Amino acid sequence: MRVLVCGGGRRLGRAIAEDLGAAGCHVAVSSRHAVEPVGVREGRAAAALVADLADATQALAVVRDAAAALDGLDGVVYAAGGAFTPTDLADITPELVEDALGSVVRGLVFVAQAAQEALSDGGSIVVIGDVAAMRGWPSYLPHSAAKGAQRALVSGLARALAPRLRINAVHPGTVLPPDEAPEDALERIVTRIPLGRIGKPGDVAAAVRYLLTADYVTGAELVVDGGRLAT
Ligand SMILES: NC(=O)c1ccc[n+]([C@@H]2O[C@H](COP(=O)([O-])OP(=O)(O)OC[C@H]3O[C@@H](n4cnc5c(N)ncnc54)[C@H](OP(=O)(O)O)[C@@H]3O)[C@@H](O)[C@H]2O)c1
Repeated sequence: MRVLVCGGGRRLGRAIAEDLGAAGCHVAVSSRHAVEPVGVREGRAAAALVADLADATQALAVVRDAAAALDGLDGVVYAAGGAFTPTDLADITPELVEDALGSVVRGLVFVAQAAQEALSDGGSIVVIGDVAAMRGWPSYLPHSAAKGAQRALVSGLARALAPRLRINAVHPGTVLPPDEAPEDALERIVTRIPLGRIGKPGDVAAAVRYLLTADYVTGAELVVDGGRLAT
């Protein structure tokens, strides 16, 4: 399988791309900065592309460039996300809203537009959403709103892309907290997770691999949060 991971330069997107490479996929990653390609099995292709997905022209081009580098494309994982910084309502600026919408919503629209042409028959898009899309977080309003908009895009695009292509979402709970997150805040989060731990990148990557190959699943949302939303 030939897969582009948008936002695959670091952290969760990178872990998903590495997992796909280890599973035998040809993998292209895109990032706003130059990064190394991920490791892939012998004989598989790997590429690292630079694109600011908030720019429609670059979002369209990166899908075509990935298809050229991998000699076709069967999957796109959209893992780009805007800034994740707690901000009170009173302190939200137009720039914060623009950053969230650009990286999370505008990028996905134009990546999907290019993917409609570039993906092979039966190909699919997997969007890395967030449980913040289901229950807006007061300290992360632009992020929650952008992730909520992604949910509407996934259900609308599922119909727009069918029957040739599919699109699904994975909604992780806390997996890789920001480096500056205080230890006691993390401990509080864990107390609210029925399965008793934060997620591992591999938990999310396994869900991505499932959805990339689930031929009869489109418009679906897979929550990977240890049961936190269920409480
Ligand atoms: N970490 C978690 O626990 C967690 C939980 C739930 C959901 N998620 C979601 O999973 C995704 C990845 O999470 P993360 O924590 O690894 O995110 P992160 O550390 O905030 O990194 C964001 C990623 O998105 C890329 N990106 C942001 N804006 C972009 C743009 N305009 N154009 C191109 N790339 C852009 C960044 O690329 P650069 O390297 O170029 O900056 C980076 O790779 C995000 O969508 C996030 O909301 C994460």
